[in-house]
Amino acid sequence: MIRLLLTLSLAAPVSAQIPDEFTNLLVFPKDIERGELIGAMRNFSFGLGVRCEYCHEGGPSLDSIDFASDAKEAKKTARRMLTMVRTINDDHLSSIDRPDRLTVQCATCHHGVSRPESLESILRRELDASGLEGAMKRYRELRADYYGSFSYDFSDGPLNRVGESLMRSGQVELAIDVLELNAEYHESSAWLMGLLGEAHLANGDRDAARRSFERVLEINPDSASASKALESLREN
Ligand code: HEC
Ligand code: HEC
Repeated sequence: MIRLLLTLSLAAPVSAQIPDEFTNLLVFPKDIERGELIGAMRNFSFGLGVRCEYCHEGGPSLDSIDFASDAKEAKKTARRMLTMVRTINDDHLSSIDRPDRLTVQCATCHHGVSRPESLESILRRELDASGLEGAMKRYRELRADYYGSFSYDFSDGPLNRVGESLMRSGQVELAIDVLELNAEYHESSAWLMGLLGEAHLANGDRDAARRSFERVLEINPDSASASKALESLREN
């Protein structure tokens, strides 16, 4: 919904409500073409997944925004970011010798969110701050808002890595809970079922471990590690 509104708000009539004269440009050239500046601003908005008033004072209607004001911290941060991006592109990437050389944009790091933090890092922080409940709630909320966008990785990877590192650090029960949350969405991931098998084993639950490794073999009959794990479960 937020994205839809953003798209609509950026549609053609935008230009009419934006001033012709720019009075407070400190990074862009003062005589920048209007169209070029507006294009850059659209890229900012798209890159961070925000609307103009995230950085500019006023709104929500465009004609009530004071674009020249520096009242918002986000605008000042954006200036620093803009300078940083220019330095990266002009001073560093420019020396890469290939004809199809790429440049860094806001979206390269931000991928549609204002704070470019990975899902894995958000969930680890949430686990520390508010435990499993909080982390699960956050995961579901982010998934509801962002699934299918370019903002977060909702593959089996992030929660598998969180679960695996919890298991390695001895927090086996928590690891199982995290992996089971992941299994709600990725029941056909052999990687995930293998980790669950390991975690159940570490937790002393051989039946559950056996079921998980059998599930790995259903998904991937060639899995040598699952065959080996099942074999040793039969022997001992
Ligand atoms: C991520 C923050 C951010 C977003 C989002 C953003 N802007 Fe800006 N905008 C800036 C910054 C930073 C400057 C100042 C650039 C400079 O100092 O050269 C600026 C400058 C401007 C100016 C020139 C103001 C003046 O008189 O100096 C206009 C007009 C403007 N933006 C319009 C827009 C519009 C329209 C949108 C939404 C489509 C938008 N901006 C979205 C950060 C943002
Ligand atoms: C090299 C990666 C990178 C690029 C490229 C980049 N940013 Fe950022 N940006 C970050 C990081 C990391 C943070 C978070 C810093 C923090 O608060 O911990 C951030 C934070 C911000 C924030 C503050 C967000 C908040 O709510 O606290 C704004 C605004 C912003 N960036 C604007 C931009 C704009 C506009 C561009 C393009 C001109 C851009 N960034 C390009 C990495 C990047």
